[in-house]
Amino acid sequence: MAGQVLAEAEGVREDSGGFDLLAPDGTGYRVDVTGGVFHPDNPLLARYVAGRRVVAFIGPTVDRIYGERLRGYLTARLEPGSWSVHTIATGERNKSLTSVEEICATAKAAGLDRHGVMLAVGGGIVADVVGFAASMYARGIRYIKVNTSLVGQVDVGVGVKTGVNALHTKNMFGAYHPAHASLNDPALLDTLPAREIRCGLAEIVKMAVILDGDLFRTLERHPDAFRRAPSGTGGADVETYVIRTAMRLMMEELCPNLREHELARLVDFGHTFSPVIETAGGHRLAHGEAVAVDMALSAHLARLLGLTDAETCERIVTLLERIGLPVYDPATCTPELMTQALRASWQRRGRKLHLVVPTALGKATFVDELEHLPTETLRAALDALADRAVRRDG
Ligand SMILES: NC(=O)c1ccc[n+]([C@@H]2O[C@H](COP(=O)([O-])OP(=O)(O)OC[C@H]3O[C@@H](n4cnc5c(N)ncnc54)[C@H](O)[C@@H]3O)[C@@H](O)[C@H]2O)c1
Ligand SMILES: [Zn+2]
Repeated sequence: MAGQVLAEAEGVREDSGGFDLLAPDGTGYRVDVTGGVFHPDNPLLARYVAGRRVVAFIGPTVDRIYGERLRGYLTARLEPGSWSVHTIATGERNKSLTSVEEICATAKAAGLDRHGVMLAVGGGIVADVVGFAASMYARGIRYIKVNTSLVGQVDVGVGVKTGVNALHTKNMFGAYHPAHASLNDPALLDTLPAREIRCGLAEIVKMAVILDGDLFRTLERHPDAFRRAPSGTGGADVETYVIRTAMRLMMEELCPNLREHELARLVDFGHTFSPVIETAGGHRLAHGEAVAVDMALSAHLARLLGLTDAETCERIVTLLERIGLPVYDPATCTPELMTQALRASWQRRGRKLHLVVPTALGKATFVDELEHLPTETLRAALDALADRAVRRDG
């Protein structure tokens, strides 16, 4: 299979240049953390390509900002005529089978054979759709991802999942297809819009709440990490710590369950109510924002079920607010829609609820059965969030 098998022992190993993962099933891959990924002196990308034909795909925004640098790199490091760069439409609507087919057609027209490489340069959308195309093109070829968004670097870029939306369902079709290489250059985040940074931070708060109290407390001290305004208190050291810790935690959590045979997953914190908040709200809230609302709701449920104390719940909700994330969405946070979300998750997770709720900062547990979550408790948690919104805005 794809992937650079570099780790010698099962688990995740960190070094100054990135992370190696070796899963119990033998799947291994590396995620590099590098600077100047498109600087002609940086050997990484060219080394991973190693003389193969490359067809690169990039979204229009990232092309506008980094396209010239990417083409400059490929010109400097690869054989003339051995590569091409193509822009593809982004946005959830274009994360589709149609896009996958177009990508495959472009690759075929460019003469890509089984030994070629697809290169995805962009956020999670480009990685997911190009990765899925690579998983099926000529029955599966190599692909390399250069992750340009915060979600891309701490989430999509460190795992093996690819996929597209279909049948009115997010990520309905996809494949577990490890990238041959995954490159994270944190400097690329300098141009990421603030809203996208906040969405990445939502996923980082998720990892902190379920696994790492120290990371949580660091975020409390620096809720404006990654903000490029002069008021930002973070600084490079805090950013490096936050992003590397989030990457490592995610890889450690994924490692024993890369292909998700186990359906009770702590990384699903914030991902039970959020699919409905996203879709029923017509994608008014971005994924990370919906995850933030879900985490706030789950924190209140944990408090009401006696699984955590009021202070822990309050600190989680307050941190999300201070980052600038929403913690309530009146249009979708209704008992009816949230019950529907619980039922859909129950169905998806093998007829178990597996709702992840915090027990302390850095610790979480599961509510496994639907009947352990009475409708009155759900109503009370939604009321608590509504009251808070009134107090804050009114
Ligand atoms: N495969 C997985 O394991 C996995 C995990 C999490 C999320 N996802 C998927 O990833 C997608 C979300 O990814 P995302 O948040 O990266 O969204 P995205 O790919 O849409 O990127 C967000 C936006 O930021 C822009 N952008 C990206 N990098 C930029 C940069 N460096 N400078 C300026 N603008 C930049 C993009 O053009 C886009 O408008 C969802 O479809 C989600 O389902 C997949
Ligand atoms: Zn997510």
